[in-house]
Amino acid sequence: MCGIVGYVGERRAAPVILDGLRRLEYRGYDSAGLAVIDQDELRLVRRVGFVAALAAAVPADLPGSTGIGHTRWATHGGVTEDNAHPHLDSTNRIAVVHNGIIENHMPLRARLQDEGVVFRSETDTEVLAHLISIFYKADSTAGPEAAVRQALELVQGTYGVAVIFLDHPGLIIAARNGSPLVVGKGNGETFLASDPHALSAHTREVVYLEDRDIVRIDASGWTISRMDGGGVSRAVEVLGEEWQDEGRGDYSHHMLKEIHEQPESLARCLRGRVVPDQGTARLGGFELSPRDIAAIRHLTVLGCGTSFHAGLVGAAAMEGLARIPASAEIASEYRYRNPVVAADDLYFAVSQSGETADTLGAVREVQVKGGRVFGVVNVVGSSIARTCGRGVYVHSGPEIAVASTKAFTSQVAAMLVAALSFARTRALGPHEGKAFGEELLSVPERVGEWLTAEPPGLMDAVELCTSGKFVFFLGRGVSHAVALEGALKLKEVAYVPCMAYPAAEMKHGPIALLDKRTPVVVVVPDDVMRDKTLSTIQEVRARGAQVIAIHTVGDDQTPKVADVCIPVPRSNPLISPLFSVLPLQLLAYRAGLALARDIDRPRNLAKSVTVE
Ligand code: M6R
Repeated sequence: MCGIVGYVGERRAAPVILDGLRRLEYRGYDSAGLAVIDQDELRLVRRVGFVAALAAAVPADLPGSTGIGHTRWATHGGVTEDNAHPHLDSTNRIAVVHNGIIENHMPLRARLQDEGVVFRSETDTEVLAHLISIFYKADSTAGPEAAVRQALELVQGTYGVAVIFLDHPGLIIAARNGSPLVVGKGNGETFLASDPHALSAHTREVVYLEDRDIVRIDASGWTISRMDGGGVSRAVEVLGEEWQDEGRGDYSHHMLKEIHEQPESLARCLRGRVVPDQGTARLGGFELSPRDIAAIRHLTVLGCGTSFHAGLVGAAAMEGLARIPASAEIASEYRYRNPVVAADDLYFAVSQSGETADTLGAVREVQVKGGRVFGVVNVVGSSIARTCGRGVYVHSGPEIAVASTKAFTSQVAAMLVAALSFARTRALGPHEGKAFGEELLSVPERVGEWLTAEPPGLMDAVELCTSGKFVFFLGRGVSHAVALEGALKLKEVAYVPCMAYPAAEMKHGPIALLDKRTPVVVVVPDDVMRDKTLSTIQEVRARGAQVIAIHTVGDDQTPKVADVCIPVPRSNPLISPLFSVLPLQLLAYRAGLALARDIDRPRNLAKSVTVE
């Protein structure tokens, strides 16, 4: 959420910063800005809207080889140019960009105003610029780092922050607490960013800052120390291929590209992990002995949004297959109810970005209470992956569209692999394990086949969903998780009001909302619950609503009662979400297109949500 880029070296900073901001735009795109040191002036350019608007406003020959930039997802203060970062102090000699939230910004602002400071924005960040300025002026011999350190000591909340000083060209001071920052090593130049996407075009050698690190960056490198004093050395890591910028290729949108990448992303996730001959699976990062696995009493899967939906499937698989009692919890709710954490329970933290503040907070809550938490994460080296220190990477590759698609299927696949491995250690026999493993391994190819042609019924479903009042999504068991995911996609990408319910729960209230203008999408695989879901469909139709059924190919009953039918491949019920989610991803995509939405950058959203 929000992107930061910094550059110090011999090149002009502005083009490097703009390029980095373009790569980070998926983190927030309400407004963007940059500041560079141009001899005796801090040059500031900010614009509301996409980075393209900023790029158009930045003079092509803007000099200055030290600078910082920011792309914003608004928290405090509306989407205006004044609220865009960087923020300057009153002397216009210090510029600050910030990710995170200064929770005590109101009392700090009031104190500063009492001292005569005039604020130019409504943001929480601006207090930082003024505080740094005050400490800097009070003792300029102590230097910029001391001023930043003193200011941050007054701050409660989270920050990834970068500061430049007109008096110190060639220097950036940055600090991290809860919002990631990474420093990149160049040849006679140094880069800073809130995630490696911004750096991958310039360098592969990076250092991830840890919470409460503060860093002095100049063209020759960096020096890291701890906020409470003392130097520290952090290992240089080499960025993997996953950070390469692949662009959109021939696809009109990242979302469509990512939907179609699912055969490969699923294959990467499963490769080398499923061992069909032994009817089991191996996950390197789990390091649990058979005795440990046998002793697990309960699994809690934590995640937000799409990752929570994947967690619902993961929990169902762990219970259904491995016979481990399991549940999924919304991570943003979890830690504030003072949860009971038991040492023989297990926790999974599911996250595409690995930076979701709510999920990271839940991980820390589990760890503080002595629980074992494993990451199920896509982004290598991300905060959740590092904080968990163990777990599994889902290897879906970079996901750029704000709406998560391939990460969902990879998260589900990774947890199905974990469930298979735990199940074989506990109760599952080799034949059932083999059948499950073989079927899992066949999924990527079957997904690929299904995706080769647009499914029948899709455009009829789009028409119904874009012309109705709102849309209901129904399903039972793991198909309820798929219904939730389908509804989330349609809200995010097409802004169509919709809600998802466990199918049988609809008669307990929501059915009052149904009429001819409320299409109902029902995820109804041909499993033991099918006939009960068909009864729900009849209840829906009796109220005049039209039904779009996502059903199993070859099921001859569902098409008799549905208005629009989209068949998906037959599979083990626990594997079915990997197929039944596909038409819902395409439905959201096509509905967004029909309604002329900004598919990859939906309004008000950002790809990684690094604030609580
Ligand atoms: O990066 P994470 O998986 O932790 O993100 C969690 C949610 O913010 C994310 O899934 C969000 O709901 C997506 N925009 C869904 O498409």
